[in-house]
Amino acid sequence: MKVFYHSKELNAFKNNNNTKAVGLVPTMGALHEGHLTLVKKALSENDIVIVSIYVNPTQFDNSNDLKNYPKTLDSDLLKLETLGDNIWVYAPETSDLYGKQVESKGYDFGLLEATMEGAHRKGHFQGVATIVQLLFEVFKPSKAYFGEKDFQQLQIISALVANEKIPVTVVPCPIVRHDDGLAMSSRNEHLNSTQRAIAPIIFETLQKVVALKGKSSPEQIEFWILDFFKHQPEIELEYFMIADEKSLQKISDLNGVQTRAFIALKLGGIRLIDNIKF
Ligand code: PAJ
Repeated sequence: MKVFYHSKELNAFKNNNNTKAVGLVPTMGALHEGHLTLVKKALSENDIVIVSIYVNPTQFDNSNDLKNYPKTLDSDLLKLETLGDNIWVYAPETSDLYGKQVESKGYDFGLLEATMEGAHRKGHFQGVATIVQLLFEVFKPSKAYFGEKDFQQLQIISALVANEKIPVTVVPCPIVRHDDGLAMSSRNEHLNSTQRAIAPIIFETLQKVVALKGKSSPEQIEFWILDFFKHQPEIELEYFMIADEKSLQKISDLNGVQTRAFIALKLGGIRLIDNIKF
């Protein structure tokens, strides 16, 4: 494993070694098994895997969230080191990527951005797309790996690649969960033991939703979910919807369309998201 703090050094090393297939796994650090699964998949499909570890300021709409984002580079490096030699970590300062202008580019993602996370976190995907495009341009990976945990982000990146004609293959990776079903997330660390014990209810509920497919309409299921979470005092539901996987828009006719159920909620003030194929 190698660690670089400047993209120029990484690229010089890459050119000197005549590196061929490069996979990219963008992260914000605080690595857990979800991230490591992306890295393992990338290692199986590329000669070298660049793992970026960078907490991107432009994608945070809340300065406290940005300030409190865990920064655990030393333990992240230890975790990556166990996965193999062909990993190059890129852990830059803001200036190395953004220069002096730390702001989002303006993208038009249409309705993809108008719903769910895009609607609840203003400017979030503009910031995500900006940093991911910068990483694509700097390292020119042949493949880049993103988790379905952030399904809307995955669709935004796919739209970015198509709209900007970036020559990279976006590889979706399944959600990695704890044994009790809770989707892995750095935010889970903020839950106290009582909240952590409640958290599996999210995936349990999503599984019940899937079991209702064909028996109840999406509207009926949404109604049931709203009512169900009204009776969970620790939980504040932000949104639940069943949507077309491609457009991320609600649909009433499920025939012939790939759909997913999406949820965002706060548990003791900690914001958690999850989704499931419906
Ligand atoms: P971060 O939250 O660190 O996530 C990095 C990658 O890991 C994302 O593609 C995310 O979907 C994936 N991931 C996180 N938890 C996962 C889980 N439980 N199962 C599967 N994949 C999981 O997403 C970001 O960072 C940033 O927005 C980024 C793309 C790096 C741009 O700053």
